[in-house]
Amino acid sequence: MRSHYCGNVNETLLKQEVELCGWVHNRRDHGGVVFIDMRDREGLVQVVFQPDLINTFAIAEQLRHEYVIRVKGTVRPRPEGMVNPNMPSGKIEVLAESLSILNASLTPPFLPDEYQETTNENVRLKYRYIDLRRPDMFHRLKFRTQVTQYVRRFLDEAGFLDIETPMLTKATPEGARDYLVPSRVHRGSFYALPQSPQLFKQILMMAGIERYYQVVRCFRDEDLRADRQPEFTQLDIEASFIDEQMIQSILEDMVRGLFRTLLNVELPNPFPRMTYAEAMKRFGSDKPDLRIPLELIDIADLVQEVEFKVFSEPARNSDCRVVALKLPNGCELSRKDLEDYGNFVGIYGAKGLAYIKVNDRKTGMAGLQSPILKFLPEPVIAAILDRVQAETGDVVFFGADRAKVVNEAMGALRIKLGHDKKLLIGDWRPLWVVDWPMFEGDGDSGHWQPLHHPFTAPKVMDIAALEADPSGCLSRAYDMVLNGTELGGGSIRIHTTEMQQAVFRILGISSEEAEQKFGFLLEALQYGCPPHGGIALGIDRLVMLMTGSSSIRDVIAFPKTQTASCLLTGAPSVVDPLQLKELSIFCVQEKEHGRS
Ligand code: AMO
Ligand code: AMP
Repeated sequence: MRSHYCGNVNETLLKQEVELCGWVHNRRDHGGVVFIDMRDREGLVQVVFQPDLINTFAIAEQLRHEYVIRVKGTVRPRPEGMVNPNMPSGKIEVLAESLSILNASLTPPFLPDEYQETTNENVRLKYRYIDLRRPDMFHRLKFRTQVTQYVRRFLDEAGFLDIETPMLTKATPEGARDYLVPSRVHRGSFYALPQSPQLFKQILMMAGIERYYQVVRCFRDEDLRADRQPEFTQLDIEASFIDEQMIQSILEDMVRGLFRTLLNVELPNPFPRMTYAEAMKRFGSDKPDLRIPLELIDIADLVQEVEFKVFSEPARNSDCRVVALKLPNGCELSRKDLEDYGNFVGIYGAKGLAYIKVNDRKTGMAGLQSPILKFLPEPVIAAILDRVQAETGDVVFFGADRAKVVNEAMGALRIKLGHDKKLLIGDWRPLWVVDWPMFEGDGDSGHWQPLHHPFTAPKVMDIAALEADPSGCLSRAYDMVLNGTELGGGSIRIHTTEMQQAVFRILGISSEEAEQKFGFLLEALQYGCPPHGGIALGIDRLVMLMTGSSSIRDVIAFPKTQTASCLLTGAPSVVDPLQLKELSIFCVQEKEHGRS
């Protein structure tokens, strides 16, 4: 129906006839002439209707926002003074010769105008088809296609096979709740939607596939955030006869190529590596944003003996941390700012946020300003300031509590200060976080949890050593982190039944439970399993970062809200009682039928 996309009409087509299809973006009437900004997915073009074409002009006068139209006309230069340099088609316009309305539109709840960022997100999600007409939304979806196209081509060329794995399956533990699907045929039995294809990709290695990938939907019933959706897409990868360096270098090559091709950005080669322990110590986070030049500095050894119990008690407890965080030129912060930061760390469970303002480093105590000076001996204060290399104008914040609280609160404060004070250096700072502990949690009560998942290989091969000291054992897991976001995680896997059984034992999974949940894996491990490992990258997060979006909802065509509902379709919703009966399901508390 068209000869060109609206957005592609430009000076090269001067004097030529074009046929265009699209939407009425805007209509202006000027002294008997009607101007339409006509839009399709490639952009806008101005169409002019003159009153001498009586029939066409009469139709043009009926046009309203978002009507779908077809126009035939001739490209001509815009008159002097009407040129719009901000528009690719800004030098030309199309003088209409004919016009047909292909479909009318109700007055839209909002206009697909680029400047509609203020529209309530729930309205955008309910009328997603209008929201997706916005050029920036279209470009994000287009960019996403380019990303998946690039990675598919890269992996195809590297000998990886694209293999689909089941959606109706058994639970795969990745730390979230499962979405369950009832079986009609097997009454009382349920499938689980995959939290990841983890076990299937391992089985594919046992099947001799050697190199597998999949762009695959995963489902996790967990608390949602700006970078989490209940269903999301992974680029899932697994390979045999490899070690962590090989898988990391394949991934790095792919991500570097992706950034070079799509963003013209050269990422470092190789990506830096940091141990989990160092990341937690310096940044209070297992996914540090290296663009922010602030660090947590331990001072427990300096304050163990002070009378100020807020510091000395945690300083003497090995489960706790006392850290300082220096903000250069922080003296300019007002009392209100300091109070706000105190409230901010409170969100993470911190009981306070002590600080010292270094108004003048040369004049000793007289140059300092702080509510805690009176609690600390002068030499201790001097030692702290020396250690953090405080200079005139700086402020030093303190966190003292259980290590988890300090890491979360001071780690978050570090990021907030970095953004508030615009301290970020560099645009892209990728990083591998390596040497993760194998387990976390409380071994005393026998409650160990895997930090990655229970199929991750430990660094030690000796089962007795692993069982003797689970907390001290490191795993062969690695995370790819970019600008403070966990982009992907993977590991070298356990490939012997004995080790897999030992890890299940440490996790408190009885042999009956292991058999019931993972019997097929334990069995498969006995039939010639190659050493293997892999990784999964979050495609939504990757596209979110590459497009500079603030939420992954903006790079997913039909995302769910923070409460996991789809506002467009109204899912989840109640179903016909007959359907439930067929599935032998009885709801203890049913919502009124037909209401969501
Ligand atoms: P993991 O659980 O780390 O590893 O997931 C891999 C990556 O998937 C992305 N991701 C998410 N993205 C959006 N919404 C979510 N709810 C969500 N959850 C995870 C993240 C994350 O880094 N089977 C292992 C991989 C492996 O070991 O090979 C796994 O799923 O970017
Ligand atoms: P207090 O003696 O409780 O009034 O605390 C004195 C100062 O220490 C105040 O500035 C508090 O904000 C701060 N503070 C209290 N608890 C902590 C903590 N756990 N970590 C860091 N600073 C704290």
